[in-house]
Amino acid sequence: MKYMTTAQIREAYLHYFEEKGCKRLPSSSLVPDDPSLLLTSAGMVQFKPYFLQLKHLEEPYIGTTTVQKCVRTNDIDIIGTDGRHLSFFEMLGNFSFGAYFKKEMCAWALDFSVNVLELPFEKLYFTVFEDDDETIGIWEGLGVDPSHITRLGEDDNFWRAGPTGPCGPCSEVYYDQGPEVGCGRPDCAPGCDCDRFLEYWNLVFTQYDGQEDGSFKPLPKKNIDTGMGLERIAAIMQGVQSNFDTDVLHGLIEVAQRVTGKRYGENEKDDRALRVMADHARSVTFMISDGILPGNEGREYVLRRLLRRAVMKGSLLGAEGAFMGQFVDNIVEVMGDVYPQIVENRELINRVVLSEEERFGATLRQGRAYLEDALASLEGDELSGAQAFTLHDTYGFPLEVTEEICAEAGISVNREEFDEYMERQRTRARAATQNDAEAAWSTYDGSMSALLEEVGATQFTGYDENETEARVLALVSGGKRVEAMEAGMQGGVVLDRTPFYAEMGGQVGDTGELVSEACLVKVSDTLQPEGGLTMHHVEVEEGRIAVGQKVAARIDVMRRERIRRNHSATHILHKALREVLGDHVKQAGSYVAPDRLRFDFTHFQACTREELDEVERIANEKIMQNLPVSTYECSLDEARAAGVTALFGEKYGEVVRVVDVQGFSQELCGGTHVRSTAEIGLVKISSQSSVGASLRRIEAVTSFDAIAYLNRIEGELRETAAELKVPLFDVSERTAGNLAELKRIQHQFNRAKQAAMEGDIMDAAESGRYVAKAGYPVFILKAKDLRAEGLRHSWDVLRAQVQGDCAVVLASENEGKPLLLAAGTEQAVAAGFHAGEIIRAIAPHIKGGGGGKPTMAQAGGKDAQGIDAALEHAREILL
Ligand code: ALA
Repeated sequence: MKYMTTAQIREAYLHYFEEKGCKRLPSSSLVPDDPSLLLTSAGMVQFKPYFLQLKHLEEPYIGTTTVQKCVRTNDIDIIGTDGRHLSFFEMLGNFSFGAYFKKEMCAWALDFSVNVLELPFEKLYFTVFEDDDETIGIWEGLGVDPSHITRLGEDDNFWRAGPTGPCGPCSEVYYDQGPEVGCGRPDCAPGCDCDRFLEYWNLVFTQYDGQEDGSFKPLPKKNIDTGMGLERIAAIMQGVQSNFDTDVLHGLIEVAQRVTGKRYGENEKDDRALRVMADHARSVTFMISDGILPGNEGREYVLRRLLRRAVMKGSLLGAEGAFMGQFVDNIVEVMGDVYPQIVENRELINRVVLSEEERFGATLRQGRAYLEDALASLEGDELSGAQAFTLHDTYGFPLEVTEEICAEAGISVNREEFDEYMERQRTRARAATQNDAEAAWSTYDGSMSALLEEVGATQFTGYDENETEARVLALVSGGKRVEAMEAGMQGGVVLDRTPFYAEMGGQVGDTGELVSEACLVKVSDTLQPEGGLTMHHVEVEEGRIAVGQKVAARIDVMRRERIRRNHSATHILHKALREVLGDHVKQAGSYVAPDRLRFDFTHFQACTREELDEVERIANEKIMQNLPVSTYECSLDEARAAGVTALFGEKYGEVVRVVDVQGFSQELCGGTHVRSTAEIGLVKISSQSSVGASLRRIEAVTSFDAIAYLNRIEGELRETAAELKVPLFDVSERTAGNLAELKRIQHQFNRAKQAAMEGDIMDAAESGRYVAKAGYPVFILKAKDLRAEGLRHSWDVLRAQVQGDCAVVLASENEGKPLLLAAGTEQAVAAGFHAGEIIRAIAPHIKGGGGGKPTMAQAGGKDAQGIDAALEHAREILL
């Protein structure tokens, strides 16, 4: 049979469908532009709007074709146990949005399989949805023997990406690997659980839009969505049974062998772990390159789980130190030409992986010790949910990891109880972030998307205008649509056009007012509850606002000016950070308010003062150069080609807006900006902090707020200078001098105090000397103001003075806190003295605890009133 590499198959497929008239498009990001999905799990995800006829393909294309990176983790437990399941895979697909349908698709699928891949026709089998006679007719018309066609039910042959959205019946193409790999049953056929028939291509006839109530609404057109698992077809074309023996994945198995020192194929248990490492490394690499960072929620947690599971597998096999970077390097090398994002973000991926490995590595050993203890002292054969939760919460063990280790010891984990703990934690977190401010209209019980469909997208005029004549299209108040709102009422207003910027891309929403002869309405915030629909959050001050009314929509211009300055400053700081720290710096979040800005970015250690000074210097230099700031629109491809900084996950072919700080920073952004950099006046970075693994945050102020910030600092300095009675610029020198002086005096004072105490102790020693029951001299004394080391020193002094065997019980009160010390020479101990036991006995009098060796023990406590009683008790014991 013909042999093809993974790269050859990929190219042959895309080329074939390009020839048929499909447009070749890049894979979309693993972060889908679709809130109903956590991760991109199929080629069709980026085309949902086309199936719904919300977007249209340009002429003369009849469809599209892609190789899509996909992550699926629903069967994470199975991954590694066989050669077929993967968390990361590539899906070859072609898609039609009403142009070609079943007949063409089946013919091409057969032609590609038999004439391009050169698979033997007699080894191909087909399944169809149970009542789809039409497709059976098509396959038979193409010469397929009826014995090679199986009807299957909804579970196998009806495909959907999620509970809702485009879906439909499908027909699958299988390759017969031969009876020798099968179950041997006479009725073995596609759909059987055994390995004989391998499905490699799914042809979905996308005809329906699945609704939330479970019903199916027919789509306006009949569509095609197909998916061929690249790793599976590569296994077939390379004559191997397992995905992990194909060219691309085998390279990763080799890396896994290298880092663990194990050999693949020697024992099944190790093989499983090696497969998990090889598979998960690809998910991890690609997820990070699409901007996902390890975290505790949603897709960020999926990433953390995969990464930690791979690290755990490696460490259980004996891999030492950080090793995931070796996988990343291999993946970038082998797959980088098809997926440029992994090349562009190589440094970021390596650093994120390393820092997560270090974080996890630090707790891994402790966590394993905890788990081993827990297993050793387990009664029964189930680990409690509470223990699994502690492992998760304190030691960062993903549940599957705990489960796998337990399973090896024949122990199960109480998942239900674990889920309860997780839910409780989530509820606490939610309660902490509940935002009441949105309540007035966000409780609107209708659907925002229906509202958007009814009134259309709001036209934004605010790039050029501060005031716009607009018409009221809809009002929402008290959770309902209303026709009018009277003075005193709060709610949401939708206009046909507006200069109000709705909170987006980190820039806060505008405030201002809506005015007409009939009303005065204050706008306290502007948001977009649905893409394209702007909602003004308002309170009616005077009169009455009603649907249909014309109003003048006026933003608070001064506030917007400050926001503009901060937003442009954010772009400048972003670029300056990249110049100073390196290209691994990527925006991870931002917040642009009138009075300050915040910028979160990927970086792996705290910035030094010098680095921040340099960032600030560059930013202010660009401000003072008064560079023009302009905006233009272009396609994403054009923007990329021009080197514009795009955020993660921007989509191909979209019209994007570029904000261009001339000669310095070009960034995709929809926000509002200054016209030239000098308007920013000045930027000062006011703080930096860490906001998560590999994430840093800086906060900064500009223009008047920067001046106010500096004035505050100067004010503090002036006051300090006045207190110190020195000129402004001598403050630090004088303060340093004063501190040194203070230290010296403190030292002297302590020495004097100690000397005085020693004197006191010696005096007291004369009167406080007793002879213990056992015959050695013992001193029971109370000192003042001595800390533990002072008490110990007193003991040394006393012992030197006495020059023989003796013992002490000393007490002191220092800053209100009681302290006890018992100590004795070896001879005293030989005679029966035990410092530790005495302290244990008397410490409760000072509400404290402590202990120690027979020769020396001490205790701190909470109640200094108890000192006398403690010493009295010691006396009773010893004398
Ligand atoms: N969307 C289909 C699948 O993922 C082709 O199987």
